Amino acid sequence: LSYFSENTRRQILDTLIGGIARMEYRGYDSAGLAISGESESEILVYKQVGKVAALRELVNNEATDFDKKYTAQTSMAHTRWATHGQPTTYNSHPHRSDANNEFTVVHNGIITNYKEIRILLEKKGIRFETETDTEVVAKLAKYIYDSQRGKLNFVEVIKAVCKEIEGAFAFAFKSTHFPGELVGARRGSPLLIGIKTTNKLDIDYFDVEFADELGESNTIANMEKVPAYAKRAQSKSFGNDTSSSTQQQPVEYFLASDPAAIVEHTKKVLYLEDDDIAHFSPTGDLRIHRLRRDDGMSSFRSIMTLELELAEIMKGSFPHFMLKEIYEQPESVINTIRGRVDFDNHRVILGGLRNYLSSIRRCRRIVFIACGTSYHSCIATRAIFEELTEIPVSIDLASDFLDRRCPIFRDDVCIFVSQSGETADTILAMRYCLERGALCVGVTNTVGSTISRETHCGVHINAGPEIGVASTKAYTSQYLALVMMALQLSEDRISMLERRREIIDGLRELPELVKRVLKLDSEMEQLAENVLHKEKSLLILARGLQNATCLEGALKIKELSYMHSEGIFAGELKHGPLALIDENMPVILIMTKDTHYPKVRSALQQVTARKGRPIVICNEEDTSISEVDRTIRVPSTVDCLMGILTIIPLQLLSYHLAVKKGVDVDFPRNLAKSVTVE
Ligand code: G6P
Repeated sequence: LSYFSENTRRQILDTLIGGIARMEYRGYDSAGLAISGESESEILVYKQVGKVAALRELVNNEATDFDKKYTAQTSMAHTRWATHGQPTTYNSHPHRSDANNEFTVVHNGIITNYKEIRILLEKKGIRFETETDTEVVAKLAKYIYDSQRGKLNFVEVIKAVCKEIEGAFAFAFKSTHFPGELVGARRGSPLLIGIKTTNKLDIDYFDVEFADELGESNTIANMEKVPAYAKRAQSKSFGNDTSSSTQQQPVEYFLASDPAAIVEHTKKVLYLEDDDIAHFSPTGDLRIHRLRRDDGMSSFRSIMTLELELAEIMKGSFPHFMLKEIYEQPESVINTIRGRVDFDNHRVILGGLRNYLSSIRRCRRIVFIACGTSYHSCIATRAIFEELTEIPVSIDLASDFLDRRCPIFRDDVCIFVSQSGETADTILAMRYCLERGALCVGVTNTVGSTISRETHCGVHINAGPEIGVASTKAYTSQYLALVMMALQLSEDRISMLERRREIIDGLRELPELVKRVLKLDSEMEQLAENVLHKEKSLLILARGLQNATCLEGALKIKELSYMHSEGIFAGELKHGPLALIDENMPVILIMTKDTHYPKVRSALQQVTARKGRPIVICNEEDTSISEVDRTIRVPSTVDCLMGILTIIPLQLLSYHLAVKKGVDVDFPRNLAKSVTVE
């Protein structure tokens, strides 16, 4: 936060804590903040283990002088999801250079070479107080500053730091040496700047300043040799003109990893690019610098208007975001389809792919790459992609894809599916494919995210903000967006005309059917309460088009209720999993009417023959299932869209199991919504 309008310490603290509370879904094992003390040359740090509410309580009890007024002030806060070091007060951010807090930093990402830097600094007599990778950054900043005997300005110090470190980062720095200044920097992790003014904002971009590059000799060992920068390019800056500081226009800047943190204050934002360094001066100037000169990066950053409404990220009358998001699905599927399907002429038009259709159609193969739930949406739609496009499709988990360094060629089309558009593994896989010349397509829910910016083309799924860690409405919208993509790609195939019509007619009905499935809510609640919540394990079986539902259903149940749950492809039952079946093993079998129905029926017989008593998810009108005690009946639609309807009862089941077990539904332990570290 960088303020140049009058605010009390209480207001500043409320803004900071309110902001990180909205980002808790990204990680939540500890939190901390740094604000100015008596003056900007003193920094006070508060940290607490647990959720943001615990930090709020600590600050309420321990901070003083809440009515103190500031006209210019910088401050920062952080909520942590541990990557290096236990979730303890010590390890939580902000991290500091020394006991006087000369440099404090908050960090999102991972520093991969932190051990080397730590060893180097330790050899120089610097003592560390935490196990984190981030601490080296604060210590390194002070070391660089000291070794230049205070001759470098704040941006120069941070540039030198960024040149030393490897890995992914979004930083905010505050320093007692640079009162009223704040520096932000990013590489690999998202970072945006929000701008709030009382007057209308009359600029629509910021120029980027390309400062002189540090020489290659700029290493920690010879910092003494670093030249001070002389050149200062003119940048179009907003805020207070340094030459007429009496004419101060109130302005507040927000630096955040996620628009959710700031949308209640301002909708005017600009996204920083990798290796951008943003500097907020004590007089209200914002300047954006580049780490290296002339690296081909555009020299301005546009100011965008966020379309996110605060109400959209609020819970409303629902007890949890997850339940709200499950119930939003009739609307979110409409939003995915809206304006993109011509029902009369049976056509799908995804504007984001328009210029790339012929290249995609000509490709040698399609490779889907994603993580978690997004990966399951790829599994769910692979068959319809292959059927409609007749192009071979392979699917990879981003982490495994990178581990294998999978061969990728110029005539491959790689589709990256990610709700957040910020998942580190998926981003790295995308960059790997970009480097190899493949056509890269993004499917994300986040406009302005790294994946939507760096891919050649793509589709926004338009599901609206998803806050619950367990993904629900994003899954059904990803699924839908991928089916729509397959429909559009196959438009040149006359042989597929009838099939396309059948699916597009199915799309029209889908929102109503989703509404009907949601009526199963109380039935799923009873199932959780009366049958499943005391169980240790649950198997979910399916085949063919429903395979993804069993994997995704099992993932929802394990991440939310901490119950062991496994999705099993029924075709594999006799190759091992059958050994688990007896009268005590809870089993859910998905048995919808499609071409694989007879084979799933034989799986049902294999299970009942071993005294298993599966709960069957089937079509409403299916009267032929008599051998089981309990069926969950869902409406029918075209086979390749059935997975959107069958997952919903399992989403509801996982939700009720979590509530029954007393799990913090929106924030299950050890998980984060957006995993921006490898
Ligand atoms: C995390 C979340 C999952 C999500 C996965 C991929 O693990 O907890 O819900 O499916 O990341 O996230 P993405 O934003 O790339 O879809």
